[in-house]
Amino acid sequence: MSRTIVVLAGDGVGPEVTAQAVRVLEAASTKYSLGLEFEDALIGGAAYDAAGSPLPDATVKACRASAGILLGAVGGPKWADIPVQHRPEQGLLAIRKALGLFANLRPVTTMPELAAASPLKPEKLAGVDILVIRELTGGIYFGKRSRSADAAFDTCEYTVAEIERVCRVAGTLAMNRRRKVTSVDKANVLDTSRLWRDVATRVFRTEFPQLTVEHLLVDAAAMHLLSRPADFDVMVTENMFGDILTDEASMLAGSMGLLPSASLGNGSGPGLYEPIHGSAPDIAGQGVANPCGTILSAAMLLRHSLGAEAPAAAIEGAVAAAIRAGARTRDIAASGARDWLGTAAFTDVVLRNLAAH
Ligand code: NAD
Ligand code: IPM
Ligand code: MN
Repeated sequence: MSRTIVVLAGDGVGPEVTAQAVRVLEAASTKYSLGLEFEDALIGGAAYDAAGSPLPDATVKACRASAGILLGAVGGPKWADIPVQHRPEQGLLAIRKALGLFANLRPVTTMPELAAASPLKPEKLAGVDILVIRELTGGIYFGKRSRSADAAFDTCEYTVAEIERVCRVAGTLAMNRRRKVTSVDKANVLDTSRLWRDVATRVFRTEFPQLTVEHLLVDAAAMHLLSRPADFDVMVTENMFGDILTDEASMLAGSMGLLPSASLGNGSGPGLYEPIHGSAPDIAGQGVANPCGTILSAAMLLRHSLGAEAPAAAIEGAVAAAIRAGARTRDIAASGARDWLGTAAFTDVVLRNLAAH
């Protein structure tokens, strides 16, 4: 079995955070004799600049042959005005589609030590432990579209099979958690959402009768995420709703920089692991990006693609211990604090914790 991790650093803060996550993976590989090897490949604006495409064929080939893919972020103002098919974001959408990565797992947890970094009151944040499953290869991101000088359209399409398979992922994961699923749609307006609700209802009732199932409209879900975040266990939703709700949910944890994700397919190929944040052009190049989302994505890679649960848990523990001990990047530091750590220095603390346990 391949032990090669393909690293798609991408743009903006992408290379800064993936470099730190690779340090952590290297340390875990040594400590747990995982035999990991690393191979860099191009994606996004960096790939367009170097090879004329945001997803060169060589990248797809390397990803297919890998054990797992670690991605930083793509995009930025430099590529804002290039033809749409060359945009960095198209590279990311295309690799998700090419590898059939239809289920995007985005865990959201809170730590009392970071309560001050969240705009919510600490009592709302206690006990928050949500796993959002975002459908990743369908919906309005991939439907028919067109633009002319004076009009444009994007279409949202879903098939029964696409909804069934992502609901099955949600149901299976919920069975090993608190056994509650919230399916989010806009069934009062959209036909795709009415189909979504019918299929979700059937899949959960017939295949996962032990689960408690709730359906929410997406506008209300956005509100409930702030008013009662600790009530949620697994949330499952379509592509664009999941994108938006997880950026919102990141502020429960305290920062966009904290949240990891795993994009998984039917199990026949590698998964792709990336923080949920973007290339953060406003802070790129400054060495201040929070690497936690990417380091925690690397832990998810070990768990889901290599079956290496102990090293994954050790990395997660090392990140949590760093935060408990007071290590902070700028985005999660107390306002006005001066003792925050840069991207690499924060990772140094994580590495010391990993070595010590
Ligand atoms: P963004 O996620 O890049 O940034 C939003 C805000 O969060 C910014 O203030 C940024 O500084 C902050 N932030 C993000 N990551 C952080 C980190 N690790 N540490 C500290 N702060 C962090 O979103 P945006 O500014 O809307 O988008 C910028 C570019 O990134 C766009 O081109 C967009 O298309 C792209 N994007 C890519 C991905 C991806 O590659 N998966 C995801 C989202 C956005
Ligand atoms: C994400 C991003 C991407 C998405 C963009 C960059 C295509 O926002 O991974 O959350 O919308 O899926
Ligand atoms: Mn997003």
